[in-house]
Amino acid sequence: IWYISEWMAMGKPNTFQLVELGPGRGTLTEDILRVFKQLASVLSNCDVSVHLVEVSPKLSEIQAEVLTGGKVQPNPEEELAYMKGISKTGIPISWYRDIQDVPAGYSFYLAHEFFDALPIHKFQRTEKGWREVLVDIDPEVPDQLRFVLSPSRTPATQNFIQPEETRDHVEVCPEAGVIVQRLASRIEKDGGAALVADYGHNGTKTDTFRGFRNHKLHDVLSAPGTADLTADVDFSYLRKMAQGKTATLGPIKQREFLKNMGIDLRLQVLLQNSGDTATREQLLHSYDMLMNPEKMGDCFNFFALLPHHRLVHPDKKDKPESKSPLPPVAGFNELSLK
Ligand SMILES: C[S@@+](CC[C@H](N)C(=O)[O-])C[C@H]1O[C@@H](n2cnc3c(N)ncnc32)[C@H](O)[C@@H]1O
Repeated sequence: IWYISEWMAMGKPNTFQLVELGPGRGTLTEDILRVFKQLASVLSNCDVSVHLVEVSPKLSEIQAEVLTGGKVQPNPEEELAYMKGISKTGIPISWYRDIQDVPAGYSFYLAHEFFDALPIHKFQRTEKGWREVLVDIDPEVPDQLRFVLSPSRTPATQNFIQPEETRDHVEVCPEAGVIVQRLASRIEKDGGAALVADYGHNGTKTDTFRGFRNHKLHDVLSAPGTADLTADVDFSYLRKMAQGKTATLGPIKQREFLKNMGIDLRLQVLLQNSGDTATREQLLHSYDMLMNPEKMGDCFNFFALLPHHRLVHPDKKDKPESKSPLPPVAGFNELSLK
């Protein structure tokens, strides 16, 4: 709904690409395509294509099964897309290993729990200055890893710490910075928008690196390769990395974003339309998971990149009275422009 709202606010261009970074099992794109199908009359004059950026061969197979029912073709080596198919709803889908391989063009980008999965550097402020937290083999315990501080400065301490940094412990994800730079350049040049949804903070948290195995906390240094590793996304860093090429909105807490998007009304409609108790309980449970501040409501955030002209009329200074106001950006209603 957010993408359709932005597409309408931007004058309903006759084509757009939906680009998802790290689609996991393909569930969210499947949901989005279902909504696009339900709103087919709204999108009737628009050519939509889907572009998935995925490095995992196993997950791309699952995505192909979920989205196309297995109707995909590996693509010849000389093409940038490594696989192509048609969604169950009739929309062309292509798979890539890198955002740079996705064709240029008006695009809506989606990154849901993507940036938190990318590798970070960790830094600790000491009396001697910044030191990098590194992983070492523990000489005392066989097959055990340990964290150590670099004895001196490293290239990373010199390049990745902002001069104005006030925290004592910082995590920086340079790969996220590069990807946001690319997103911002693409949106500036070809138009569109990006919506990022992730666990994160606005440049305030310090030590957030964690491991999860079977949904339980897991020591990041034990049994490497068997757990999901994650670090909260530093949205203040992403904003900086957009380098003013686009406007940014957020981060805004998930419970506020979804409230602004009308989740309460949607829940009421779904509850009224569902006859059985099990479905109603499932709906209430899902709502609680998404909205409860103790669950995902507060720690999950939304953040957007939008072309400057989407938020400020280019010639507003010259003729403010001649322009009708720009429509607000759905979900971010209360936020001012950054
Ligand atoms: C934590 S999962 C999130 C999956 C899904 N978006 C969700 O919210 O459930 C991270 C996804 O990003 C993919 N991924 C990780 N690093 C990547 C990279 N550098 N480029 C593209 N995809 C990557 C993973 O294979 C996986 O699909």
